Amino acid sequence: MTSAAEVVVRRCRELAAFSEEPGVTTRTFLCGPMREVHALLSSWMTGLRMEVRVDAAGNLRGVYPALSASPDAPRLIIGSHLDSVPRAGPFDGVLGVVIAIGLLEALEGSRLPYAIEVVGFSEEEGVRFGVPFIGSRAVAGTVDEDLLSRRDRDGRSVADAIRAFGLDPATLPDAAARGSLVGYLEFHIEQGPVLERLGLPLGIVECIVGQSRAEAVFTGAAGHAGTTPMADRRDTLAAAAEWITAVERHAFNTPGLVATVGGLEVTPGAANVIPGRCSATLDVRHADDAVRRSAVETLSAAARGIAERRHIRLTWTERLDQEGVQMDSSLTATLERAVTLAGIPVHRLSSGAGHDAMIMASIMPAAMLFLRSPGGLSHHPDETVIEGDVAAALEAGRFFLGELARS
Ligand code: GLV
Ligand code: MN
Ligand code: MN
Repeated sequence: MTSAAEVVVRRCRELAAFSEEPGVTTRTFLCGPMREVHALLSSWMTGLRMEVRVDAAGNLRGVYPALSASPDAPRLIIGSHLDSVPRAGPFDGVLGVVIAIGLLEALEGSRLPYAIEVVGFSEEEGVRFGVPFIGSRAVAGTVDEDLLSRRDRDGRSVADAIRAFGLDPATLPDAAARGSLVGYLEFHIEQGPVLERLGLPLGIVECIVGQSRAEAVFTGAAGHAGTTPMADRRDTLAAAAEWITAVERHAFNTPGLVATVGGLEVTPGAANVIPGRCSATLDVRHADDAVRRSAVETLSAAARGIAERRHIRLTWTERLDQEGVQMDSSLTATLERAVTLAGIPVHRLSSGAGHDAMIMASIMPAAMLFLRSPGGLSHHPDETVIEGDVAAALEAGRFFLGELARS
C-alpha cells in the first residue's frame, strides 16, 4: 500500500514538472506553468470538498471548514510558497503545501473546532521582481503601490503580471486574512546541514534571520575591446568584480554574516565589447539586524568607492530590509508537544533562509517545522527529502492539529 508520505513526495515531484524551462524547475511569480500547479493542487483540495480560490496576488487558497458552520469560526492557516528559484529542486516551498493537503486527507472527513486554510503563496523567492514575499504580503495586507509598480527585466510591473494572469489588482484588499486567526504553521525543508549532522528528522524553528537585498548598477562606457587602451577604459564588469570580492571578504571577516552576489547582468555582453553597464544583486543576512544593516552600509560604501576611483557611475537601490522574526512561543510550544508525541527528539534551530512565516508572523502567531535536508542541499535540482522524515512531519502535524483542538 502507498503510504501518505510516499504520496507527498510523488506529488512534489509531479508539480516540479511545471516549469518555465524544459527539463528543470523554474517558476517565477505568476508565470504560465503556475496555472497547472494551481489546477493539480486544486484537484486534490476539491477532492476534500474544500472551497478553493485564487486571490488577487495569485495565492492559491483552499478552506477546510470547521465543525461549526459559522463563518466566524477560528481559522488555522497552513502554507508555503509555490514559486521557485531558477533551476530549483522539487521541495522548497511546495512540500509545505502538499504536506498540508496530506494532513487534511488524514482527517478522513472529520472536522475540527477550527477551519484550516491551506495557502500556496504565489511568490516568496524574489526572483522576478527582486523583492520577495509578494504572496504573503498580500495576505498580511501590506502590498503597497511601490510594490505594485516594481518592474521585471521585461519592464512589466507586478500589477501588469497580476492582470496578465487574469486577476485584478484592485481586489487585493480581499486577499488580506481577516477574522479569528488561530495561527500560521509552515512545514519546510531545512535547506541546511544542521538536522542531518544531528541525525534528526525534524527541527523546530525558533527564529528566522533578517535579510537585506539591494541592487548595484555600474554605468561606465562600452567600447572596442581591441583598440581601447587599458588606461582609457571604464569597464563596469571589472568594477563589479572588484566589489564582489570585497563583499565576500567582508562576510568572511564578520562572524555570522553571509553575503551573496547571485545575479549579474552585463551589457552589451559580447566578448569583444568593454562592458558598459553591469548590474549586480546583493543578498545579506545575519541573526543580528544591526550587524546586517551595518554590513549593507559598508558594502554600499565599498561600491561607491570602487566606482568613484574607476570614474564609473553607481546607482544603489535597496530592495529589501526584512527584520529577523521570532516564532510565536506559545504556538511553538504546541508544535514541540506534537513533535514529542510523534516520538521525535525536540531540537530548536534558527533559519538562515527566509520564509512566508516571517510575514505571517506580523499578523498572527506563527510556527515552523523543518524537515532534514539530505546533504544540506537546496536551491539546487538535487534537493531532496527522506520519505521517513515526511512521515514524521505528517505524524507531528496530526498531533499538532489535535493539541490545537484541545487548547
Ligand atoms: C528563500 O529561499 C530565501 O531565503 O532566499
Ligand atoms: Mn527558496
Ligand atoms: Mn522556501
